Amino acid sequence: MKKIIIVGATSGIGRELAKLYANAGWLVGATGRRQDLLYTLQLEYPNQVITECFDVMSSDRISHVESLIEKLEGLDLLIYNSGFGDVSEKLDLEVDRITVDTNVNGFLEIVNFAFNYFVQQGHGQLATTSSLASIRGNSFAPAYSASKAFQSVYFEGLHMKAKKMNAGVYVTDIQPGFVDTKMAKGNARFWVAPPEKAAQQIYNAIEKKKWRVYVTRRWRIVAKVMKWMPDFIYHRIG
Ligand SMILES: NC(=O)c1ccc[n+]([C@@H]2O[C@H](COP(=O)([O-])OP(=O)(O)OC[C@H]3O[C@@H](n4cnc5c(N)ncnc54)[C@H](OP(=O)(O)O)[C@@H]3O)[C@@H](O)[C@H]2O)c1
Repeated sequence: MKKIIIVGATSGIGRELAKLYANAGWLVGATGRRQDLLYTLQLEYPNQVITECFDVMSSDRISHVESLIEKLEGLDLLIYNSGFGDVSEKLDLEVDRITVDTNVNGFLEIVNFAFNYFVQQGHGQLATTSSLASIRGNSFAPAYSASKAFQSVYFEGLHMKAKKMNAGVYVTDIQPGFVDTKMAKGNARFWVAPPEKAAQQIYNAIEKKKWRVYVTRRWRIVAKVMKWMPDFIYHRIG
């Protein structure tokens, strides 16, 4: 039985991914802070879901990951999906701090640990849910786009490193546009995908060992436009 850890599996995209992997016969290690939601997921899949309740901002996050690997008796795939973002109109330092602690500090320590774990065992896959927001800065939530850029650029580096090392390790940077969860904020939303659809596309991309994927697929067009848009236009709308 293959083994996966989904960091941030209590709601939204992560919960749908947990269900997909459990339905596909994987043993799923699900994490998050909301114990009640972990409990209901475990009740749905009593033989296939093992839970570990912890905050990715806490200093003991790696011991929780290690404990979960022990309970699963191994690991083939880890998805870092926990994320935080909020509009920071007045550049609220507290919002920015939580964003960086969740999307950068928690991400870095867990992903770094998992990459080295997989290199040592000679195989494994690693994925993260970054965002299309990683492509450029934006004035509404500067720390969010910066933190997602960190994830995305770090993953590109890991992809290159794994290839050079011929380590048998594959990484996937997942860049969603809008997905219908509480993370998708604001009124100017479009092409909003249901989390079930987003999770299925993520599952397929990881199966195919793609190093980067836009979710849903049509967001690739927006990504290209954002990348090449001249500053004098982008800075008026971003
Ligand atoms: N929805 C979108 O439009 C969209 C677009 C681009 C990227 N994304 C990214 O997709 C990922 C999943 O988000 P979602 O849309 O599915 O929203 P969601 O339903 O709010 O899920 C967020 C997940 O992150 C976990 N999490 C947040 N802070 C945490 C912390 N301090 N410690 C541990 N876990 C934490 C939450 O678990 P607990 O609250 O139980 O801890 C939850 O499981 C995020 O990284 C987000 O940035 C979403």
